[in-house]
Amino acid sequence: MKLNWKLWLPQKHRHLLVKFAVVILLMGFAFRLVFDRSTGISSRIETPFPEDLSRIETPFPNEAADSKPLVSEEAAETGEHISVREKCNLFSGDWVPNPSGPLYTNESCPLIESHQNCMKNGRPDKEYLYWRWNPRDCELPRLDPKRFLEMMRDKTWALIGDSISRNHVQSLLCMLSKVELAVQVYHDEEYKSRRWRFPSYNFTISVIWSPFLVKAAIFEDYNGVSTSEVELHLDKLDKKWTDLYQNLDYMIISTGKWFLKSSIYYENSKVLGCHYCPKRNLTELGFDFAYRKALRFVMNFIATSGHKGLIFFRTSTPDHFENGEWFSGGNCKRTSPVKEGEIQLKEINRVLHDIELEEFGEAEKKASKNGVNLKLLDFTPLLLLRPDGHPGPYREYYPFSHDKNAKVQNDCLHWCLPGPIDTWNDVIMEMMLNG
Ligand SMILES: *[C@@H]1O[C@H](CO)[C@@H](O)[C@H](O)[C@H]1NC(C)=O
Ligand SMILES: *[C@@H]1O[C@H](CO)[C@@H](O)[C@H](O)[C@H]1NC(C)=O
Ligand SMILES: *[C@@H]1O[C@H](CO)[C@@H](O)[C@H](O)[C@H]1NC(C)=O
Repeated sequence: MKLNWKLWLPQKHRHLLVKFAVVILLMGFAFRLVFDRSTGISSRIETPFPEDLSRIETPFPNEAADSKPLVSEEAAETGEHISVREKCNLFSGDWVPNPSGPLYTNESCPLIESHQNCMKNGRPDKEYLYWRWNPRDCELPRLDPKRFLEMMRDKTWALIGDSISRNHVQSLLCMLSKVELAVQVYHDEEYKSRRWRFPSYNFTISVIWSPFLVKAAIFEDYNGVSTSEVELHLDKLDKKWTDLYQNLDYMIISTGKWFLKSSIYYENSKVLGCHYCPKRNLTELGFDFAYRKALRFVMNFIATSGHKGLIFFRTSTPDHFENGEWFSGGNCKRTSPVKEGEIQLKEINRVLHDIELEEFGEAEKKASKNGVNLKLLDFTPLLLLRPDGHPGPYREYYPFSHDKNAKVQNDCLHWCLPGPIDTWNDVIMEMMLNG
């Protein structure tokens, strides 16, 4: 079913959407400048993070040892040993207090991008660090970095997508850095695509910058200021990832927010229409049209690729700008998770998420027929409950040190590290072991 955003959005929202699209153009500018240039490596030796270090530095218990399948009471009575885990939905649960805190800190991991390094940037509240995701029907053990690296000996991973994939790769590298520090072996000019190796394990992880997954010509200067609409080919894949595809053992693919930008859509190298291109005499097709078409094309490629590894499709992540959008003074000041139902997924995020689930559902059937191992990482609902997990003003180093009323850009889209997305790696490990 084709959704026309013009038809289903009331006038006021339509206006907002257009505004949103315009500012999305600038989003690169806002989040990119320092982000892409910094290597995140600090050579300074500073005093240890006082409060939490003792807790964090204790050797983590071998939680994998506790991860025996649980036996339900009923099953125990009848003598049947049914693993509860088998029917456990890892994506349905609650955030519960976790006094032991994160696996790593800004002190123990030198790979955190400065814009997500909330600890180092002086975020004053700490409560957001002390939660863990607790699926309703089973225990989710924390990723065991040693075990993970052992499993990944001689393997190759890639995280493919936009800046949230970059956010994710750093979380994973930091968790693994408890055992071995990754060595960077490649980066492109703008540090958007990068590759690291874990020498003792001959294990390689890449992050591949491909925000649309399909072929796109992006007209942005170095500062992310757009000079023209994106030219998006809905029937051609981005070679950045497809060239490497058959050599990867594991990948996590995702996309999302970039589809909200002003774009001209092509199929068969002919213009189909556009999304938000008021200066051109083209049919407005809506971002949802392009998103569905592009995702279907990508998913179809994967489902029929004969790939022998494991492919995760990760849903897009919600932002939590409140009291405005990111361009109009929106912020995210909460300091603890919310309960299910307390915040609703914003309309735009909901549209993206619905299309993702629908297209994944179709692709999964095809993939399993073809022997392709395609799995869904639906982290959207779980992250919706974590409005406290974003850098907000602490994307900058001590933003209020000179002026406590300083006007600073809030980031309520990316995630603090350590922070809620560390949980992603726990879930992924669990799916690899027991999925
Ligand atoms: C880590 O963050 C703390 C503040 O929370 C700061 O005192 C310390 O200098 C930071 N260390 C590094 C290496 O960034
Ligand atoms: C490292 O892993 C690759 C596969 O990813 C393999 O081809 C290569 O032989 C391995 N190297 C060593 C030294 O084991
Ligand atoms: C816009 O396109 C329509 C249909 O292709 C055409 O009839 C019309 O003249 C065009 N208008 C302008 C201003 O070019």
